[in-house]
Amino acid sequence: TVVRLADYRAPAWRITHVALEFELGATSTRVTSTLRLVAQPGQPAPPLRLDGEDLELLDIALDGRTLGPGEYTLDASGLTLTAAPSACELRTTARIHPQRNTRLEGLYLSRGALFTQCEAEGFRRITWFIDRPDVSAVYDVTLIADRARFPVLLSNGDRVAAGELDGGRHFARWHDPHPKPSYLFALVAGDLARLSAPFTTMQGRTVEVNVWADRADVARCEYALGAVLRAMQWDERRFGRAYDLAVFNVVAAQDFTMGAMENKGLNIFNARYILADADTATDDDFIAIESVIGHEYFHNWSGNRVTLRDWFQLSLKEGLTVFRDQEFTADLHSRGLKRIEDARLLRSRQFVEDAGPLSHPVRPPSYREINNFYTATVYEKGAELVRMLHTLLGETGFRRGLDLYFERHDGGAATVEDLVAAMDESSGRDLTQFLHWWEQPGTPRIEAQARFDAVSGEYTLTLRQHGSDPDHPLHIPLALAFYDANGRRIDTHPEVDADYRPGLIELRQREHTLRLRGLTQPPLPAFLQGLSAPVRLDFDYAPEQLARLVQVETDPLTRWQALQQLARTAILPGAQRRVALDALLRAQSILLDDPRADAAFVAACLALPDFWDLGAQLERIDVDALWAAREATLDALAIDQTERLRERHLQLTARAAGGLEGDSASARRLRNLCLARLARVEREGERAVAQYHGANTLTDRLAALQTLLHAGFAQADEVLQDFAARHRGDALVVDRWLGALVTAPRAGTLDTVATIVRGPFWQPTNPNRVRAVLGSFVRSNVPAFHRADGAGYALFFELLPALDSINPQVASRHLALLENWRRLDDGRRRLLDAHFDALQTRLTSRDSRETLARLRGAD
Ligand code: ARG
Ligand code: ZN
Repeated sequence: TVVRLADYRAPAWRITHVALEFELGATSTRVTSTLRLVAQPGQPAPPLRLDGEDLELLDIALDGRTLGPGEYTLDASGLTLTAAPSACELRTTARIHPQRNTRLEGLYLSRGALFTQCEAEGFRRITWFIDRPDVSAVYDVTLIADRARFPVLLSNGDRVAAGELDGGRHFARWHDPHPKPSYLFALVAGDLARLSAPFTTMQGRTVEVNVWADRADVARCEYALGAVLRAMQWDERRFGRAYDLAVFNVVAAQDFTMGAMENKGLNIFNARYILADADTATDDDFIAIESVIGHEYFHNWSGNRVTLRDWFQLSLKEGLTVFRDQEFTADLHSRGLKRIEDARLLRSRQFVEDAGPLSHPVRPPSYREINNFYTATVYEKGAELVRMLHTLLGETGFRRGLDLYFERHDGGAATVEDLVAAMDESSGRDLTQFLHWWEQPGTPRIEAQARFDAVSGEYTLTLRQHGSDPDHPLHIPLALAFYDANGRRIDTHPEVDADYRPGLIELRQREHTLRLRGLTQPPLPAFLQGLSAPVRLDFDYAPEQLARLVQVETDPLTRWQALQQLARTAILPGAQRRVALDALLRAQSILLDDPRADAAFVAACLALPDFWDLGAQLERIDVDALWAAREATLDALAIDQTERLRERHLQLTARAAGGLEGDSASARRLRNLCLARLARVEREGERAVAQYHGANTLTDRLAALQTLLHAGFAQADEVLQDFAARHRGDALVVDRWLGALVTAPRAGTLDTVATIVRGPFWQPTNPNRVRAVLGSFVRSNVPAFHRADGAGYALFFELLPALDSINPQVASRHLALLENWRRLDDGRRRLLDAHFDALQTRLTSRDSRETLARLRGAD
């Protein structure tokens, strides 16, 4: 069945209080729930419908009286009581089976400990409930378990009681004073250890912060603990938001479908976003860990204190919270680099999503399975919409709007309109038109055309928006600058037909014309500084102009963007190709020679656009030709830069060895790019082997290993043996070398993948392992996965049905990686089409069935 935003109705019943008692066991758990229910005032009480899935009913009583079989109806998706009084208390007891729960939704077992994941609709797999985000209640939770197996018992809020019971059992009781929807419920039980630190809030309250993990892993929680404290402090300083309970628990789980979850007072994380030290995490991991920890913590306000009215509003919490975590990283590290990283992700994931059949608005109008909408569009594009509000209102205006939003909706369930209304009212700006951004799918394109009249000295720039609804053009903040021949910014105020601030134009109509007068030469325009809107901008730059933009522009994002565009022109077919390659070679060399340029920035600028980013702009993706063109460009760069790359690799050695501090990480990033690029022109892997043995971080060791594997150097095996032996016991690091192995860009790598999935390293119940092996293979190994003989596809479709019956979300997300299939060349498209046909009857989950239907355009 299809769920539609247009069909939203307020709930017929509310739940004011929930008491849960868990008798926890790995194979079998009893859940007794006591709900205080109130019907909406009005007519006689409507039927009471509660969601429930995979639950065995042991007992049911209404207002203290056990119900007989005729007094309720039970089906596969819930429980109905037709004659419940308008205020009543319902008690149910259910039996559930955590160990059998491979979907990892609801209550499940991971390495002997019990965890929950309830967002979006997992709570109904724990007990019967009105499992929707606009039903909020106060929870009292009692956990009972065997003390030896489950010494630690955690839930939301504060622990109010604990003690011993008979038979070696013990209990803990938790009270969460903040009303919350069921998707924020959580419990954890297991033999865990913690690192702990106090935090004093800006109101002077003391919070106990705990980061929990398997006993063996707790030493690697130090960085995560520090990150929690930084996040708490940052949200106070930047947004005036403080924590609101006496304890904040964060727990690492090795089996976890997504990245992490913001359950009130008890955040549960995929262990890969908690565990870290120099030996087992890369520089990128450290940044990602801090960012995800920040993200979940920031949800305490943007998500928990103010939650969602319905799941269509998902981006209201996710887009806003991604924006907040992006700002957190930008404030603590390099703002320019962070923005480049965001833009890279947006282009390679979200723009690509928009270019295929899975394209949807940031607020989708309908879904079959909400878990399919935790997408790059909802998260990353959603964050860009919030960022545009920030750009339009400025820091102070945005802050005022956000304060009003939190104040108005604290404890409530909000919509996208509520957020925009708060921004609108607090700033006095009319944001009605801006709301269309949440409703329209696709990546808008702005076409910019310039004309220069040498006689009158008038420069005319025409801007047209394409791809938006013709009746509802979008309100687009377009950052803009003009440079003269000396590289100085022209500060003449152009005359425009809309409101205009220097540096920023607000496009509200389909077409705008700007004029600059009194010029002797046409200026060089620069667009979208800081990526002021999630759009494509088409302007017919000559390669020379792009190279000049890299020199004169000061915004790192715009400089990076100019280089990316130069690379795109050099790679894709077109008349300018050769000229663009020459300009790219020169521009990259200048950066490589610049001793003052930040090394990480140089590395970002030297990297070429992702294969799928390039493909997203093509009507037809000739896989072999596009891959060959991108490789040829990389080879040409390597040949041209050989001496410079050698020099830089050597020269950065000392700085790269400096441990985990920021400057060293930056040096490692460039140095490892040099290493990988040099491997294209060197015949053997001595340099990488030497780096591997001399390394003092996982970053450098892994980069060396990956270079050896990907270049196919003879020493790869020996180094791989060493690496594998070193990290055998650590699943997260095993994921890393498996990932390096399966992405070696050669057709023959398919055999490696086939061997892995038929051996002991293939653990289909562990989402991280599936992503490391299959996800990286499908996403990143173009020559092997997209083999013309179809062998790559055959392996993928052989694995998918089993994955689907184990964990539907993981299967569905992997299937969605084929989002480009329609634009692939004929041979590949036909192969995939046949596989889709055959898959039709072999998928069992709603998740994967919906994704398949959307991929095929049936929905
Ligand atoms: N709210 C979580 C986050 O972004 C994501 C949870 C998604 N889980 C899911 N099963 N869809 O922080
Ligand atoms: Zn989130």
